[in-house]
Amino acid sequence: MAEFDLAIRNGTIITAADTITCDIGIRGGRIVQLAERIEGAAREVDAKGLLVMPGGIDSHVHLDQESGPEIRMADDFESGTRAALAGGNTTVIAFAKQEKGKSLRACVEAYHKKANGKAMIDYGFHLIVSDPTPGVLNQELPALFQDGCTSFKVFMTYDDLVLNDRQLLEVFAVAKRERALVMVHAEGYDTIKFLTEKLESEGKTAPYFHALSRPQLIEREATHRAISHAELIDVPIMIVHVSGREPMEQIRWAKSRGLRVYAETCPQYISLTADDLKGEDLAGGKYVCSPPPRDRDSWAAIWEGLKDGTFQVFSSDHCPFYFDSEAGKKHPKARQSFRYVPNGIPGIETRLPILWSEGVAKGRISANDFVALTSTNHAKLYGIYPKKGTIAVGCDADLVLWDPNRKEIIRQEILHHGSDYTPWEGFAVTGWPVMTIARGKIVMDDGQVLAKAGDGQFLARDISPYAEKAA
Ligand code: URP
Ligand code: ZN
Ligand code: ZN
Repeated sequence: MAEFDLAIRNGTIITAADTITCDIGIRGGRIVQLAERIEGAAREVDAKGLLVMPGGIDSHVHLDQESGPEIRMADDFESGTRAALAGGNTTVIAFAKQEKGKSLRACVEAYHKKANGKAMIDYGFHLIVSDPTPGVLNQELPALFQDGCTSFKVFMTYDDLVLNDRQLLEVFAVAKRERALVMVHAEGYDTIKFLTEKLESEGKTAPYFHALSRPQLIEREATHRAISHAELIDVPIMIVHVSGREPMEQIRWAKSRGLRVYAETCPQYISLTADDLKGEDLAGGKYVCSPPPRDRDSWAAIWEGLKDGTFQVFSSDHCPFYFDSEAGKKHPKARQSFRYVPNGIPGIETRLPILWSEGVAKGRISANDFVALTSTNHAKLYGIYPKKGTIAVGCDADLVLWDPNRKEIIRQEILHHGSDYTPWEGFAVTGWPVMTIARGKIVMDDGQVLAKAGDGQFLARDISPYAEKAA
């Protein structure tokens, strides 16, 4: 019997810390040897001329999520993870959303049913707390943390999700007590409502006005408020999908005060602008997400933050809807007002090529930074490191073989997600995943998906070291 199931030969290995040339020996789904030369494996892959990196971890994805009575999400756990692995990812952390008035535990069980037998790569769940009753705060959350859902998201906006300040404080206090990592959607509910009604009363109802209803100052104010609440409770927080300079200034201010405030940004904030929402016949709806894409000055600000450590993670915020469907962006009421266009865009498959192309290929960040931002830091923050997120003996053999020189034009026809469009149609990239290996199995080879539904396993995550007092 061969000593290794698989050997990756002659590749250049990139981790968040190092760049080395060596072979990788894999057995039983794990990396068991790194050596100058590994021979006699049952199967060999020649990675000469390619980079070998930890598989992408996308820690912000929405799959098969309840999105309102008439709206249907375009990806379930099968199509969503298929698209993820085609884009070089080996792990996703999706949201398990509590419906107001329902038990969080029952909601999480429903998400387990949605994912089990369907996911093609490993997955975890962040909880979404929308109804923090005493039962949720004192019984359900602690039990769910024990079960490996060690992070949760709270929203400062959206009718069906918003928590008021008192509720935010109560939930933050539970996070502190239980050492859970809280993710915050920082946009102010009342200010958005006020501006939305004002715009509508002026007849400004097209998708473009979605961007004007949620200016950066609304994100800035909510970011500051979330930070203040976190300081009061003395709990770390992660501000997700940060879109530009103004919220970043609040995050930097918090860090300068020694507060543990972490931050995430996404491809839409380095490559799309509010002008993309201007398309005719609801086409602007393809870009409606929250916070909305900003402008080129914001892209420059985000790059500063990606370079100086303001951001720990670069996620997709994949939240896929159909464009040409009444169950999606063309909801029957979407012509009445932008407020009826479902918020969210698909991006799980294009996250890595966009960051590589705009970041590494253009000399803005190093390949090691790329690995940190797309994989290692996600694993560390969300309690799955070093099983996931690096290349070392004993880790899961989750790898992406990357061609740094391959040029592609992003097009709907080459993608694997469920949506009927991509916001990056026609976007040129340099750098593309050519093989994805998940727990030692080749799951994508030159665009061909080889994984089966159900190959992915639920990841019960550890307590985040970043949620610990001394981190
Ligand atoms: O528009 C967005 N981002 N939709 C997804 C839900 C969220 O807030 O992350
Ligand atoms: Zn959000
Ligand atoms: Zn999201």
